[in-house]
Amino acid sequence: MSLDLRKREAAAEAIKLVEPGMLVGLGSGTTAEHAIRLLGEQYRAGLKFIGVPTSMASAGLARSYGIPLIDLPAGTPIDLTIDGADEIAEADLCLIKGLGGALLWEKIVATMSQRMVIVADGTKLQPRLSGRIPVPVEIVEFGWESTAARLSHMGYQTILKRDSAGRPYRTDGGNLILHCRINDLSDPAATERALSMTVGVVETGLFIGLATTALVASAGGVRRIDAG
Ligand code: A5P
Repeated sequence: MSLDLRKREAAAEAIKLVEPGMLVGLGSGTTAEHAIRLLGEQYRAGLKFIGVPTSMASAGLARSYGIPLIDLPAGTPIDLTIDGADEIAEADLCLIKGLGGALLWEKIVATMSQRMVIVADGTKLQPRLSGRIPVPVEIVEFGWESTAARLSHMGYQTILKRDSAGRPYRTDGGNLILHCRINDLSDPAATERALSMTVGVVETGLFIGLATTALVASAGGVRRIDAG
């Protein structure tokens, strides 16, 4: 089975958790897009809910199905968010997110969510965050090279994310993204704190203590992992 079908299987399991009247966070990336498409079909079939998008791309896709969207409901918790991840730690559901280019809005929505369900194919699952992929870090453009230098001095090797034309990639918020190679991710919360305290950093792609469930599709079916 192709990876894309596995992503769809995980997404199909996640959308079963959506109930009428819910406020639903709509994630970003190829797996989350499966969830939005499947939810769009459900919406057209009569399941009424309101979406909170985590990127312009997700908003556009949801709108194409007629899903009503709101930005950020002040003081109202989001019932459930369905989003993808680049790496999932099985031990504690810590995540690396944002390699696709969205992370700040995703983290804001995740922080406001009562439940955050991660959908992924089995290649994303690791016993613990591994350092085999870089951690995306969103930074402001002003002085970005000095921000990158500060991160390098902390021992992280950084590469500026570029778009398909080779230009610096811009997030929906107008910022840049540095991909940081972090060899020691044994204490992700400490690493996140260190990154966040660096001047010029807007947000990191380390999501700690936010995911409540992961639905991971592999050859044996979709496995559910709940946060302890
Ligand atoms: C958005 O840029 C990311 O946080 C994605 O959620 C993450 O990169 C996973 O994306 P895929 O489902 O496309 O692998």
